[in-house]
Amino acid sequence: MIRDLTDDEARRALVLKWGMADADVLPAWVAEMDYALAPPVAEALTEAIAIGMTGYPRFEMGGELGQAYAGFARRQFGHEVDPERVIPVVDVTAGVRVALDVLSDPGPMVMPGPAYAPQLDVAQVTGRERVDLLLDPDAERAELDLDRLDALFAQGARTLLLTQPHNPWGRVFTRQELEGVRDVVVRHGARVISDEIHAPLVLGGGTHVSYLDIDGTADHAVAVVAASKAFNTAGLRCAQIISADAETHRRLVDVPMVRNDSWSPLGVVAAIAAYTQGDAWLDALRAADLAARPARDPAGRAPAGRADATARGDVPRQGRPARLRPRRPGGGGEGARAGLGLARARLPAGPRRTRARQHRDLAGAPDGDRSPPGHLANLASPRRGHRRLLDSRA
Ligand SMILES: Cc1ncc(COP(=O)(O)O)c(C=O)c1O
Repeated sequence: MIRDLTDDEARRALVLKWGMADADVLPAWVAEMDYALAPPVAEALTEAIAIGMTGYPRFEMGGELGQAYAGFARRQFGHEVDPERVIPVVDVTAGVRVALDVLSDPGPMVMPGPAYAPQLDVAQVTGRERVDLLLDPDAERAELDLDRLDALFAQGARTLLLTQPHNPWGRVFTRQELEGVRDVVVRHGARVISDEIHAPLVLGGGTHVSYLDIDGTADHAVAVVAASKAFNTAGLRCAQIISADAETHRRLVDVPMVRNDSWSPLGVVAAIAAYTQGDAWLDALRAADLAARPARDPAGRAPAGRADATARGDVPRQGRPARLRPRRPGGGGEGARAGLGLARARLPAGPRRTRARQHRDLAGAPDGDRSPPGHLANLASPRRGHRRLLDSRA
């Protein structure tokens, strides 16, 4: 059911991640899967193309897409979503921007970091300041510092951009942690935008809890979700903003069309197919990537827990973070373990330019690593890619 693409197929299919990398580089920098599209998604898209569904999307809130996501959220996360409160948007980052623009007061936005780099500028493009809530690179466990969050709100921040599960921290925050966040946010009358794009990829028996599933969050939060990471459909341009409160929904819908009108009908088709017919494929994907995960790297070293992959539940830390020692082609690193979307490894501290170059040589990423010094870089590839990176060092 889960099929690895060959390198040639990947170079043709994944035009950014593979298509822009030199021939001697194993790209592992964009969180795209090197697996063939899920058959139900491919079939639905083929049918849509055959009938010429290449015009504008239905300008519809809720509808079939809302029903599809509500069913998926109930089955996958036990989360009850009102289908009518599912709003299409072109992608998750645009959803974050729209929510920030429309719902939040003009004050600064708190961004836990390191963070998904393209979102580092989202506050600024809405005319807001970004204030960072940086993770201590030596922390035993990646946790949100609620005292610091409290202080940032006290100093005037008005919004928290939560990423749940977190990329690149690789954490699935627990219900208790999210309740802690809620308490701080409510104390300051602030807002939360919860980017939950990685929710379907929680591995190892972990459970994703939507921030909206926490009591007392409906009036101050939205979640932004998509099938695009789990089903590799980012290029089809359709994510969803979920609200749990009538007033929030009204404010999001009641905006000039130009603010949110560029999702694609093929993205809607893909999302509906993924949400309604994708469970078996998703189960197989999670099982395949877990089952095939190497217990040890080829040199016999136990993989470092900190360099572990993908959003899992609370994985106890098993060792020191891996240090990457990249080399062409592909590089690799001790403990740079397999992972579905988010294998992480610590980059050696050093001058910024050097770190950026090492990252690029390893993964084919363009220059512009924006991780704070001492922090983690993503190796955003499925397990097979990481296996090959490890093998290239064996
Ligand atoms: C946390 C997070 N949010 C958003 C995205 C990108 O989503 P989109 O392309 O829908 O903006 C990524 C991509 O890896 C991500 O890791």
